[in-house]
Amino acid sequence: MNSLKIVTIIGARPQIIKAAALSRAIRQHFAHIITEVIVHTGQHYDENMSEVFFQELSIPRPDYNLNVGSAAHGVQTARMIEGIEKILLEVKPDYIVLYGDTNSTLAGAVAASKIHVPVVHIEAGLRSFNKSMPEEINRILCDHCSTLLFAPTPTGYANLIREGFAEDKLPPYTADNPKVFHCGDVMYDNSLHFATLAATQSSILEELRIGEGKFILSTIHRDNNTDQPLRLNAIFRALLEIISLSGLNIVLPLHPRTAKLLNSNLEPEVLLAATAEKRLKLIPPVSFLDMIRLEQQASMIITDSGGVQKEAFFFQKPCIILRSETEWKEIVEVGAAIIANADYEAVVLAWKQFDAHPPSVYPSIFGDGEASRFICRQMLLNCYPDMNVQA
Ligand code: UD1
Ligand code: UDP
Repeated sequence: MNSLKIVTIIGARPQIIKAAALSRAIRQHFAHIITEVIVHTGQHYDENMSEVFFQELSIPRPDYNLNVGSAAHGVQTARMIEGIEKILLEVKPDYIVLYGDTNSTLAGAVAASKIHVPVVHIEAGLRSFNKSMPEEINRILCDHCSTLLFAPTPTGYANLIREGFAEDKLPPYTADNPKVFHCGDVMYDNSLHFATLAATQSSILEELRIGEGKFILSTIHRDNNTDQPLRLNAIFRALLEIISLSGLNIVLPLHPRTAKLLNSNLEPEVLLAATAEKRLKLIPPVSFLDMIRLEQQASMIITDSGGVQKEAFFFQKPCIILRSETEWKEIVEVGAAIIANADYEAVVLAWKQFDAHPPSVYPSIFGDGEASRFICRQMLLNCYPDMNVQA
């Protein structure tokens, strides 16, 4: 019987979460024809940045863990390439499946394309047009050696067409004849799937002793925010000002990168004010169900995370973006998010604006919650054009 073997690369927190959606679709609809081999690069390794998601989201255990850990970009990526190449030569998959734009994504793309394993890129086409971001380099390079490119939004699709990918390609698709699809977002699949579970299983609000709607959720982890003291201080000053204006709590689950840099990069008086302010709840990273519960119940979300921006939109929460641009420009265009950068005045102003006039429109931008199933079908059809893949 015809069947497909894929190698999935995960490494960073958001990739583990995204991979849950495709693994679930395979388990539920394609278990008889798709075999998934999961490779964890070990880019994220703390219990609350990795292990917690496997338990909670029912993701199969990784078949391999490269345990690369943290290192400079070149060292980290090189270790991953070496490990992934060995596994690909051993497993001989039909595809390598890559998510997003991390160093694990780039390593998978380089390792696979050099030994002619077709690359499937999920979350293709996103662009910040800011090449000082490591992620922008990773995603462009990955897209341009991919065979099947799955863009989650119309903007992602249009970016790829503008970069020279043709719309009228005929199968079979290869690295030299790549195919671009607009298919919706696997993170939206996940949010729909886990929303009810989070509402019933998470006790994070009780643990933090905060009421529904009585807090703002924030996350900060981009290197240009954590590593540049001017930006980090401006963000924390703005958060403290919003607490004093609103009287609300701000819940801030700290990415380990941020946690490690607070003491050295915050000015002493900002650090003192942040630690003394009881309504600023600096907590360790939370599990996905806890995060979804927080997103569901927050009155607003302030973040530099790509994934959290989207989840704010899924749960219809106004979002202040702590970056100078976003790949998810649709959410800004419809008025659900404001780009405030790490600018004290702009962040406080955005809070005032949303507090007075919360957005009312959240149109359907991220698909129908079935992106993962669509991706599975397209992978199968490219290998077996005559297969009935209505599963
Ligand atoms: C990476 C991705 C980024 C993504 C983010 C998701 C790259 C270039 N960046 O950024 O696109 O948005 O993951 O969270 O791939 N650390 C720990 N424990 C861990 C993991 C990291 O302590 O389990 C600390 C280490 O000090 C490490 C630092 O965080 O040096 C940064 O980790 P790294 O994976 O290099 O980048 P992220 O900032 O997490
Ligand atoms: N997330 C989580 N716990 C946290 C912070 C984030 O489960 O404490 C989830 C969040 O819901 C989203 C994903 O992690 O699904 C986003 O990852 P992150 O912000 O690390 O990276 P990015 O999306 O910016 O690449």
